[in-house]
Amino acid sequence: MSELLALTGLTKRFGGLTAVNAVSFSLERGEVVGLLGPNGSGKTTVLNMISGFLPPTGGRIALNGEAISGLGPNRIARKGVARTFQLVRALPSLTVAENVVTALAFGRRKLWGKAAHEAAQAHLAAVGLAGRADQPAGSLTYIDQKRMELARALAAEPELLLLDEWLAGLNPTELRTGIDLILSLRERGITVLLVEHVMDAIRALCGRAIVMNAGRKIADGPTAETLRDPEVVRAYLGDGHA
Ligand SMILES: Nc1ncnc2c1ncn2[C@@H]1O[C@H](COP(=O)(O)OP(=O)(O)OP(=O)(O)O)[C@@H](O)[C@H]1O
Ligand SMILES: [Mg+2]
Repeated sequence: MSELLALTGLTKRFGGLTAVNAVSFSLERGEVVGLLGPNGSGKTTVLNMISGFLPPTGGRIALNGEAISGLGPNRIARKGVARTFQLVRALPSLTVAENVVTALAFGRRKLWGKAAHEAAQAHLAAVGLAGRADQPAGSLTYIDQKRMELARALAAEPELLLLDEWLAGLNPTELRTGIDLILSLRERGITVLLVEHVMDAIRALCGRAIVMNAGRKIADGPTAETLRDPEVVRAYLGDGHA
């Protein structure tokens, strides 16, 4: 394996609050890694900095050895980073396929017209939405909105996919489907950083887990070992999350 992403001393301050405090870790190509921690510990802020939605206050982000810190979201997307949002962001009056087509325009291959429509169909099929392409996005059920959000992210043909609580709010059956979908991404060789509170999903999907608390990284290692770490149990798992 080779290194895809490296964070070094990554820091974000909002006024007097240090939301992310000197966080360093790296991801090997093809890894699926969990990023865990209590509410407000800085996980989404880390994803926002990697994807260019927020500029870091300090530290460095490198993708394939190249510094990307401070670039805007579109530049970073073209370099192969895609994300989903904690709250689904769709264009409800457009069809499901059109939602994916708009994402393709920002992707690495910049498709449009017939080629974009065909690619959109393929991405929708990959997430189990082949039959819903011509429906308005606003009419989708919650899990299908989640699937569409994933198809939009995949449309950018990412090397690195950042998932922010993509499994949150799914019922047990849907959760199984969602986990299988993420497993299929791993089989396609996509590197995934997964922010998630659903521990069964973390155990099923992630070989490695990184844990944050109050902006700092407090653990980073094989998932089973990390979840037994006394500091992790005290800071995160002990308060009813387990
Ligand atoms: N744009 C912002 N401006 C000011 N403060 C912010 C901003 N974004 C996040 N914060 C603060 O930074 C801290 C970390 O927030 P963040 O959203 O990264 O946490 P999180 O680990 O994703 O939490 P959750 O599990 O609840 O999603 C919180 O105290 C939050 O209120
Ligand atoms: Mg968050």
